Amino acid sequence: MTFCEYRPGLEGIPVTQSSISFVDGQRGILEYRGYSIEELAQYSTFLETSYLLIWGSLPSKDELAEFEHEIRYHRRLKYRIRDMMKCFPESGHPMDALQACAAALGLFYSRRALDNPVYIRDAVVRLLAKIPTMVAAFQMMRKGNDPVQPRDDLNYAANFLYMLNEREPDPLAARIFDICLTLHAEHTINASTFSAMVTASTLTDPYGVVASAVGTLAGPLHGGANEEVILMLEEIGSIENVEAYLDDCIQKKSKIMGFGHRVYKVKDPRAIILQSLAEQLFEKFGKDEYYDIAVALEHAVEVRLGTKGIYPNVDFYSGLVYRKLGIPTDLFTPVFAIARTAGWLAHWKEQLNENRIFRPTQIYTGSRGTPYEPIEKRDSVEDQELMELVTG
Ligand code: ACO
Repeated sequence: MTFCEYRPGLEGIPVTQSSISFVDGQRGILEYRGYSIEELAQYSTFLETSYLLIWGSLPSKDELAEFEHEIRYHRRLKYRIRDMMKCFPESGHPMDALQACAAALGLFYSRRALDNPVYIRDAVVRLLAKIPTMVAAFQMMRKGNDPVQPRDDLNYAANFLYMLNEREPDPLAARIFDICLTLHAEHTINASTFSAMVTASTLTDPYGVVASAVGTLAGPLHGGANEEVILMLEEIGSIENVEAYLDDCIQKKSKIMGFGHRVYKVKDPRAIILQSLAEQLFEKFGKDEYYDIAVALEHAVEVRLGTKGIYPNVDFYSGLVYRKLGIPTDLFTPVFAIARTAGWLAHWKEQLNENRIFRPTQIYTGSRGTPYEPIEKRDSVEDQELMELVTG
């Protein structure tokens, strides 16, 4: 094996073989198990899509009914998890709370039987069922309220919005939220999925796998960008300020949040669908004050940076949809995590099928053979810098 070219960020380097999803970044194509994201968004549901991702084919009517039933049954949290959450500071970020809760599930379901299909199924069901309840419970608790118990007569998306807002959502809002979950469910080997796979490759438990991926998703260059987009639109404040804001970003070489992608060099197909979902919501419930600024920014970025392949990614319009659904800004990334749990679990399962621990190599750039110096003979770094300044 002689391959030793170093590519920062592993750009273009395959780290696995996978049959879960496919992206063509030049043509803006995304498929889950061969099905186009457009068709899944239109005809499928998040749970049906999760089944497809994790078990490799669309479920029959009975299989889907059983899967949905199991998930409904496992939505509730153990009181000890709720008590643990009560100790979290209200000012803490919900992604940190979610990471802690996902890891804590491993304490309660600690038997690790990775070669047992029943264990795998139970872990999939528990994680998909409980993560939305955890996100909604944290939201309630930080407002000083008791968590709202899940309702068995509501589907996955409607139940989450119900637990969050304490009222049954409008059917259009629930359907649109379900489509958002489908759109965010999977996206090949992104940073959080890679993190999940590396953790999975050590044969640890699936709760640790998901907790590790949640931590990775939280960063502003990945899932955290959806929250940053809204803060950016707030800062821009009006259409008149768009050009000046963009000038400033380009001059300072700072990133415009919600734009650019390692793989897509055209507008992300999910952003196209999310924009149309936002418009459907605005038609029924009134336009978001930031929407026109967002459209103007998209246009301005296309004119100035389109030749570099900088277009809206999935995070650009999702926040505007979530705001209309009554989801607070700092829950946007946890909502992303609810959806992406399906993809992480699909990759966990795939990784287990042909596992080999991830252990890449490095190109060492440090010194070698350095003699150990007793502490009393060492200069501090500050002294060394001062000496360099004095001696030029
Ligand atoms: N705004 C302005 N310029 C950008 C942007 C952006 N958002 N994204 C990339 N560029 C430019 C870079 O400045 C660089 O230009 P240069 O070649 O002249 O130096 C070029 O495009 C390549 O950028 P990289 O940062 O090298 O691209 P990379 O593939 O490493 O990063 C990333 C991709 C992290 C998504 C980047 O585009 C970014 O930071 N975007 C903003 C944050 C964001 O929206 N993240 C969400 C991504 S989607 C997701 O994770 C769910």
